[in-house]
Amino acid sequence: MKRIAVFASGNGSNAENLINYFRENDLADVSLVLTDNPKAKVISRAEKLFVPHVVITPQELSNGSVLERLKKNKIDFVVLAGFLRMVPKNIVEAFKDRIINIHPALLPSYGGKGMYGINVHKAVVDAGENETGITIHYVNENYDDGDIIFQTTTDVYPDDTPEDVAEKVHALEKQYLPQITEELLEEL
Ligand code: GRF
Repeated sequence: MKRIAVFASGNGSNAENLINYFRENDLADVSLVLTDNPKAKVISRAEKLFVPHVVITPQELSNGSVLERLKKNKIDFVVLAGFLRMVPKNIVEAFKDRIINIHPALLPSYGGKGMYGINVHKAVVDAGENETGITIHYVNENYDDGDIIFQTTTDVYPDDTPEDVAEKVHALEKQYLPQITEELLEEL
């Protein structure tokens, strides 16, 4: 059984979806949820599902103690699902090709610093795009920059609000993130 750690800074609906998906699956389970935000809703989601969770500080992230914790918990694979901090080099290197991020747009467009949550969907609507989507990619030391593993699209209609776009993108995330994670775990 492979052990997944999920990093999330906010709502955590993708984290919850991953937890539930892998509960029904013999390949892996979500063994640890990490957040940098003590008020994040992901904490109560993890609690409700009896998944160990921890609040980490920026110092712990950069001074090696988060990496230590991942090792101590025998984590095989890391998913960033709405995690807003940069992951430091030590973690990226230790989990080379075993750390992925989900981004709510079609990278390389609408990525980089500040491009998270509703900001992304606002930018897509403001630019008059007629499609957007999701990108699942490996994590390197730059925001939204590692090799792309998977993308899929959804239409954006002229009268769509950023909230409408967010809803469609979330539906894609729910549908594909667990499945792509599973495929990557099968190759480990
Ligand atoms: C998702 O849209 C994900 O693509 C992005 O942050 C959002 C997190 O949503 N990286 P949630 O916290 O999983 O509900």
